Amino acid sequence: MIKAGIYGATGYTGVELAKILDRHPSVEIVFTTSERSAGQRLGDIEPISGALGKRPLIPADSAPIDDIDVAFLCLPHAAAAKTAVTLLQHNTRVIDLSADFRLKNVDVYEKWYKTTHPAPDLLGEAVYGLTEFARAALPDARLVANPGCYTTTSLLALQPIMAAQAKMRGSIIIDAKSGVSGAGRAAKAATHFVKVSNNLAPYAIGRAHRHLPEIEQVIGWWHDSPPPVIFSPHLLPVPRGILANVYVQLNGGMDETAVRALYETAYADEQFVHVLPAGELATLAHAVYSNNCVISLTMAGDMLIITSATDNLLKGASGQAVQNMNVMFGEKENEGLR
Ligand SMILES: NC(=O)c1ccc[n+]([C@@H]2O[C@H](COP(=O)([O-])OP(=O)(O)OC[C@H]3O[C@@H](n4cnc5c(N)ncnc54)[C@H](OP(=O)(O)O)[C@@H]3O)[C@@H](O)[C@H]2O)c1
Repeated sequence: MIKAGIYGATGYTGVELAKILDRHPSVEIVFTTSERSAGQRLGDIEPISGALGKRPLIPADSAPIDDIDVAFLCLPHAAAAKTAVTLLQHNTRVIDLSADFRLKNVDVYEKWYKTTHPAPDLLGEAVYGLTEFARAALPDARLVANPGCYTTTSLLALQPIMAAQAKMRGSIIIDAKSGVSGAGRAAKAATHFVKVSNNLAPYAIGRAHRHLPEIEQVIGWWHDSPPPVIFSPHLLPVPRGILANVYVQLNGGMDETAVRALYETAYADEQFVHVLPAGELATLAHAVYSNNCVISLTMAGDMLIITSATDNLLKGASGQAVQNMNVMFGEKENEGLR
């Protein structure tokens, strides 16, 4: 059995992770942490019945670190990196769902996250855990940086066309909508029901959202001269799910048949990335409550429009974290996932 600890188990990603690991046949959850709700049970925070609901919540500093093989950090950035340092000192493998180890350049991190990085020495070692493109590195990884939710949705949309070194003009435009759980559990004015319901609100549009440098970093690994990205996220009045329309202005040389062949070949053997047939468009409903990223392709002249849908809490967070754990520990990649 893989013995796992969940830090930040009361958050949206932590609860989702606890549900997945609870049904995973090769995992034993050893502890679940919370600071503000320590002493309560998981079922006091979320409507969860049975043994999982009875799990005690303990503060992180009393967690039996030496009893686990892997820790999942469902914590805010900075708090996650500090916890990772302690865990690695105890030879515990770490899957971090926060942004702390995603960006390789500490200056970029500190500019976007407006804090001093607690463990910059670990940035080089962290494996960027977009599972489909990290399989070779995961089995030996001590520290995995789980990608962001918008980032996962955008990168899976872009990888085949970027890896093909397609010629492009202008900027890549990512117009994305996310359900409200993407903002975490804490109450904020912008995510109140009254603000969110019956509305569709853009935020941090253009080049202002923290996932922008992450997206640009990774497409730079795939394409020799990637265009700049314009990223426009929106808050959608649904609990979960991300839908992104990704616009890539091709510079000739590739028609719809060639693009479709590229995507179908790239994802032919992937169980969690599905390219829809011509004429079908990806929707939120294709992806929510699953670990799938569902992609559709549209050509408008030379403009390639990739529509990509995920569940932000699953493929965008906890599902992908378990997918990474499965590869790290030699389990079937889809164990516990659907
Ligand atoms: N939501 C998403 O769709 C999503 C997707 C991908 C990645 N992520 C990332 O995953 C992480 C967790 O996100 P989330 O949405 O689950 O957040 P969340 O709902 O706000 O939950 C945060 C968790 O962290 C704990 N916590 C908060 N501040 C802490 C501190 N200073 N020290 C220790 N624990 C603290 C909270 O515990 P208490 O019980 O003590 O309050 C809670 O369990 C974040 O870094 C986020 O950026 C989120």
